[in-house]
Amino acid sequence: MEKNELILILDFGGQYNQLIARRVRECNVYSEVVPFDISIEKIKEKNPKGIIFTGGPASVYGTDSPKRSKEIFELGIPVLGICYGMQLMTHVLGGNVARAEKREYGATEVKINNESLLFEGFDKNNKFLMSHTDFVERLPEGFENIGLTESCPNAAIENKDKNLYGIQFHPEVNSSVNGTKVIYNFLFNICKCKGDWVISSFVEESVKTLKEKIGDKKALCALSGGVDSSVAAVLLNKAIGKNLTCIFVDHGLLRKNEGDEVEKVFREQFDINLIRVNAKEQFLSKLAGVTDPERKRKIIGEEFIRVFEQEAKKIGTVDFLVQGTIYPDVIESGLGKSAVIKSHHNVGGLPDYVDFKEIVEPLRNLFKDEVRKTGLELGIPENLVFRQPFPGPGLAIRIIGEITEDKLEILKDADSIFREEIANAGLHKNINQYFAVLTNLKSVGVMGDERTYDYTVALRAVETTDFMTGVWSKIPYEVLEKVSSRIVNEVKHVNRVVYDITSKPPATIEWE
Ligand code: XMP
Repeated sequence: MEKNELILILDFGGQYNQLIARRVRECNVYSEVVPFDISIEKIKEKNPKGIIFTGGPASVYGTDSPKRSKEIFELGIPVLGICYGMQLMTHVLGGNVARAEKREYGATEVKINNESLLFEGFDKNNKFLMSHTDFVERLPEGFENIGLTESCPNAAIENKDKNLYGIQFHPEVNSSVNGTKVIYNFLFNICKCKGDWVISSFVEESVKTLKEKIGDKKALCALSGGVDSSVAAVLLNKAIGKNLTCIFVDHGLLRKNEGDEVEKVFREQFDINLIRVNAKEQFLSKLAGVTDPERKRKIIGEEFIRVFEQEAKKIGTVDFLVQGTIYPDVIESGLGKSAVIKSHHNVGGLPDYVDFKEIVEPLRNLFKDEVRKTGLELGIPENLVFRQPFPGPGLAIRIIGEITEDKLEILKDADSIFREEIANAGLHKNINQYFAVLTNLKSVGVMGDERTYDYTVALRAVETTDFMTGVWSKIPYEVLEKVSSRIVNEVKHVNRVVYDITSKPPATIEWE
């Protein structure tokens, strides 16, 4: 990937730093978020086309605030300082930063000089998100004002000769109208990028690098059928073929036919060296009589490791263990200083149990949407690439109370009907997560002339972007009606269907 143009994003602790990296990549330029104190040598080594200083909560006058010396502005590399980044640039280069009496917050009208290369194509008045108390009061020598708001005299500044730019507003957020265009202008007008970051070149480069790195040695991958591990596996397969072994532990708690579908794709379509372990009986026997959700999770996590370990032992020592770590995990864990193994995920904790020499994380520089694009580029079927999130413990936490084989079958059938009807109604792209839950409640019903006493199935569907909060989806009544009637008619031992109309918070997405 060294060959790609690179924009370095120096992280000064702002909450939108990931977004800045994403916006840059949306402009087809590869970007990396690095600690604010990255050394000058390292910067030179990475040879970026441009540098962006992010915002951050500090004040340049704070004793512990993150600082840089002048040197970085003398490398001849264009710099764009955002918010705190702009204030720091001003402070270091001899201007003055002052504290306003009142914080300026919200989408604010910014009057700009649209002759500046940074604002090419913009009108004179624009709405951008301002969020600051400190502001640039006096510009450093060589700088000119290119933007202001009613209460902020220097909302944008430039030193055209040295390619140094500062903006007080946040171009990366949605509330800044055409904000990405500001970033685009910085990349293309000022840094002179070409925009060569495309997924096909990522795939090509990765395959080459992985080939060189792994060569004839052996790699092992735990395949869950989830997007990240699937894409990682297919990428590795393309690079090293049969030197990759994937172990797919099927705990029997996947959705209807899912285990077989995963197997089919990986074995038939990609001819991957796959070991599928059908461990349903083992998992169900460990779960017998268990009703507490956290215990269910713990048992499944431990059992997963045990089964994987047994299989891995048969293979013996491998050189590489493949992990599907992605970029948000890396950034959140302190900027690539430590490798992350997702704790909530099924395969969490594997490294301690597998005999291997090195971890490979082929997706560690990709955002989720880029992982999906990579998947499509590699030919992985759409239904797998756009799979909705599915919890590691699977259906075990969607069967309230004790898990039995019968209950598992009931839930699989009901859930499959729900998903089918959502797809038939064309709603699957709008609802981010939807599934059936088998409640532990039995109630009286009447079918034909007979009294029934059977289970209640609950339907859950949420719209969310981050899965931390979400609203229940307003599925049309006709669709709910069809789902309800099909479930009651087609799934034995269900005589009632309810729809969960609680958002998160206060409820969680899963019922357990
Ligand atoms: P909650 O229920 O906390 O779920 O609102 C938020 C998101 O996390 C998923 N989830 C899990 N994923 N192991 C996982 O891998 C788990 O134990 C687990 N519990 C919840 C859930 O499906 C939703 O997407």
